[in-house]
Amino acid sequence: MSESVRLEDKVVIVTGAGGGLGRAHALLFARHGAKVLVNDLGGSAQGEGANASAADRVVAEIRAAGGTAEANHDSVTDGEKIVQNALDAFGRVDVLVNNAGILRDKSFHKMDDSDWDLVYRVHVEGAYKVTRAAWPHLREQNYGRVIFTASTSGIYGNFGQANYGMAKLGLYGLTRTLAIEGRKNNILVNAIAPTGGTRMTEGLIPPQVFEQLKPELVSPLVVYLGSENCQETSGLFEVGGGWIGKVRWERSLGAGFDPRAGFSPEDVAAHWQQICDFDGAAHPKDNIEALKEMMANLQKYAL
Ligand SMILES: NC(=O)c1ccc[n+]([C@@H]2O[C@H](COP(=O)([O-])OP(=O)(O)OC[C@H]3O[C@@H](n4cnc5c(N)ncnc54)[C@H](O)[C@@H]3O)[C@@H](O)[C@H]2O)c1
Repeated sequence: MSESVRLEDKVVIVTGAGGGLGRAHALLFARHGAKVLVNDLGGSAQGEGANASAADRVVAEIRAAGGTAEANHDSVTDGEKIVQNALDAFGRVDVLVNNAGILRDKSFHKMDDSDWDLVYRVHVEGAYKVTRAAWPHLREQNYGRVIFTASTSGIYGNFGQANYGMAKLGLYGLTRTLAIEGRKNNILVNAIAPTGGTRMTEGLIPPQVFEQLKPELVSPLVVYLGSENCQETSGLFEVGGGWIGKVRWERSLGAGFDPRAGFSPEDVAAHWQQICDFDGAAHPKDNIEALKEMMANLQKYAL
């Protein structure tokens, strides 16, 4: 029999939970017994305006199904207000799902500062502010689960999404360091790169596929990562359409040159194939492991 994932007595904040993926996460957390703070500013997909009804509707859905939830209508850039709301409503916070997001797609040569800044502010600064406000509480209680929402547009790049790709991969960088800093306090931190049929992807994905990429198909991973059952940290997972896979960095074994004698751009060109050869590639887990080949090269040529 498979182990059951329970979240009774756990308090979960899901940002941007008034629709799309966040709504699906909030509903599933509540179904697994968690008390959920449903945050949503309720603006447009481009980050304009605000409307309390998005979060309120999801809270009503959760309550109608017998679950416990409260609505919060602050922007994630006011992270401390969101965390305070969870503390006021439920007395604690255990799990944080940083999900709120917007798009300002434009090819780079047409992008202006406001497109760049707003995407940075909602995704990166917003996730930072909510997480920073929750962090002391997670540390103090020696328990926490934090999930960041990255994107394949950050991992692989995507035309017209320079701002969004920067923000989304930035969140993975944040994930990796918070996983290291959180470990001793049992705070586990992971990132997902989801694909789902939401207002954000409507018109971008062919309608037939869009229909099948139900947001609910992303949430089981998020609830698992947010549970006590999960011991994973520092992970990055692609998820959608009923499929989940883990992503990791891969680095070639590289080419070494004599650091004392020096080497030229021509030497680099001559070794290009070896530099880019992934046969027997390494998968460094941390900075120390990543530096191993470089240190070995220094030693090889040491006096
Ligand atoms: N749908 C996908 O295929 C896909 C792919 C990769 C990443 N993502 C990411 O998943 C997350 C959810 O996106 P979605 O597809 O459900 O889109 P969505 O537009 O349906 O949901 C995003 C929600 O965030 C809320 N929001 C926006 N700015 C906010 C702010 N400042 N404060 C609080 N709430 C705010 C919106 O009101 C909205 O309800 C986003 O971070 C998005 O970038 C989605």
